Amino acid sequence: MNVEEIRKDFPIFENRKIAYLDNGATTQKPVQVINSMKEFYEKYNANPHRGAYTLSLEATEIYENARKKVASFINAKHAEEIIFSKNATESLNLIAYSYGMENLKKDDEVVISIMEHHSNLVPWQKITKVTGSKLKYMYINDEFEIPDEEIENKITSKTKIVGITHVSNSLGTINDVKKIIKCAHKVGAIVIVDASQSIPHMKIDVQQLDADFLVFSGHKMLSPLGIGVLYGKKSLLEKMTPFLMGGDMIEYVYEQDTTFAPLPNKFEAGTQNVEGAYGLDVAIDYIQKIGYDKIQEIESEVVSYARDELSKLEFLDLYLTPNKENHSSVISFNIKGVHPHDVASILDTEGVCVRSGNHCTQPLMRFLKIDSTCRASFYFYNTKEDVDRLVKALNKAYNMFKKYINK
Ligand code: ALA
Repeated sequence: MNVEEIRKDFPIFENRKIAYLDNGATTQKPVQVINSMKEFYEKYNANPHRGAYTLSLEATEIYENARKKVASFINAKHAEEIIFSKNATESLNLIAYSYGMENLKKDDEVVISIMEHHSNLVPWQKITKVTGSKLKYMYINDEFEIPDEEIENKITSKTKIVGITHVSNSLGTINDVKKIIKCAHKVGAIVIVDASQSIPHMKIDVQQLDADFLVFSGHKMLSPLGIGVLYGKKSLLEKMTPFLMGGDMIEYVYEQDTTFAPLPNKFEAGTQNVEGAYGLDVAIDYIQKIGYDKIQEIESEVVSYARDELSKLEFLDLYLTPNKENHSSVISFNIKGVHPHDVASILDTEGVCVRSGNHCTQPLMRFLKIDSTCRASFYFYNTKEDVDRLVKALNKAYNMFKKYINK
């Protein structure tokens, strides 16, 4: 399939003549995923795991098949290593509370990177405070990358947990998670990989990475909102206590005590998001139909073009690693001296959608000595024309604001 054919699968591009460059926030949905929602409610809607009647059994089958699909998609050894959540944030909170709270002791260390999204940072502030452990950061160099020495110096015998984003949502830097995992395992620490910004763009194999936990949100990879994934090694998940309590995660409940259901149910309290899981299942089919090779071929051409074109605009500050092979599909920039919200509003008048703000990475922004950026983030349905529209709109914004910029 070429990009023109791919775009025909996305009804939003028929309805809105936009250059949608906010894929880091959420992706648009193909008609196959949209139809799966309708199909679920028209043919299969019932509460899963609870009914002995055919409709409920079919809803259960849809839900459990989605789990198997995710397991094979990321090459998990067992389907029960896949826990469905609301999103990556909920998955990360589950790990922090169920693993972190129970395993961290006074003076242990949790190591994360300065480019973590708040969802892989704020929970660790809370857990390290409660347990008396310490939160340490791996910082980045002038090329917006974590140097090897930083990884080797920060991960020590005191480290018990390492949290790392595979791809930075603000910078697009691809982190060497394999190296980080090897380093952490050498000292007996476990590693949590936030794959929210990587899995839409690249093949993830949890066994090859040897990740202990890996999380992502479905909606950043074509799925509906409200469905997320937590992968955890079975040996770890089995020892952890539940994060949320309620229906369907129990075995026996007495007046004062409860025993919990086996994996994966013990981490999925309450009525499950079956239509979301089904949408994720169909989204995975769609990604596999296009293929990661094709996705990367399209994206690298468009992102490379964007890097080149934006680099020509002297009025821009770019927050971009020069190493193309370590860069994914996110480009952060500012018009020097102009607030990114003002820039984004002007881009919007040209139909160009970018995110502006701190991108839920305030410590990173502070480290870079800026408040915020504009961020263009690409997916495989974006084209060079989208980049041209962005460049044209940026020129418009610059020409509007230049008389107010302090030289
Ligand atoms: N985490 C999402 C982003 O980076 C919302 O935009």
